[in-house]
Amino acid sequence: MNLVGLLFGSSIGRKILMAVTGVVLIGFVIGHLVGNLQVFQDPDHINGYAQFLHQLGPLLWVVRIGLLVAVFIHIWAATVLTLENRKARGGEYGFKHTIRATLASRTMRLTGYVVLAFVVYHLAHFTLGAAQSATYKDNLPAYTMQHEYRVAGFPVVAAGTKVADVHSMVIHGFENKVVSLFYIVAVGLLSFHLLHGIDSLFQTMGWRTARWSAALRAVALVFCIVYFVGNLAIPGAVLVGKLQPRTALAATAAPR
Ligand code: HEM
Repeated sequence: MNLVGLLFGSSIGRKILMAVTGVVLIGFVIGHLVGNLQVFQDPDHINGYAQFLHQLGPLLWVVRIGLLVAVFIHIWAATVLTLENRKARGGEYGFKHTIRATLASRTMRLTGYVVLAFVVYHLAHFTLGAAQSATYKDNLPAYTMQHEYRVAGFPVVAAGTKVADVHSMVIHGFENKVVSLFYIVAVGLLSFHLLHGIDSLFQTMGWRTARWSAALRAVALVFCIVYFVGNLAIPGAVLVGKLQPRTALAATAAPR
């Protein structure tokens, strides 16, 4: 069997696929959070960053398609492995035998589906601007960069460039308490999903020996708490009035 056949056609191959795609997705969520935390700085930061990403053009699409493929493989491998486990046990248990399983492990499917639904909503909310069409696309003026934006020391967006005002869009987006609450619950469930996901990753890598198990669990727990708090900080700061938009929502459409 060739490598692709081995990865997709065997249980251990599917576990490896889940681990590898999981690492790719964890990498994305960490990078995304670090990028988003720039909202706490001068608007030049997050606006320059968003402009830089959009300037990547075809490369951005390569990354987006790569992420989408990783999501599909992750869900496919999880589904097949679950069905296989169920078959090996001769169907669902007559009673729930989950004494040793943690709450995070038992709720992986549920938290996974909620996170997926959140991402679809999120893309409509911020990326497509669908839910924001009356505010972001039509009413918020464009932002003029005050300073150049640099990535790894290289200037990537010049001062004076007109860019989308992502800073105001994010803050206005979280002024709605229901939306903010949904984000907080969703990132909470995502953090919970990551907790068992990282545990399983360590298991697949063969690192979860009796000696290291507790330490690795602590690493996963600290990571998930930090990740949750980082995400909570953005809608949380808007809700308590610590993050203010640069522009008020205009009553009439302004040219972008
Ligand atoms: C407080 C939390 C978050 C904030 C403030 C936030 C903010 C944003 C913004 C502003 C964009 C649009 C960027 C642009 O097109 O200019 C975006 C895109 C996106 N976000 Fe988030 N996000 C948050 C959490 C998350 C989480 C937890 C996930 C994943 C589970 C996620 C997944 C994505 C994806 C997949 C995109 C599309 C990226 C692309 O355009 O290729 N976000 N987010």
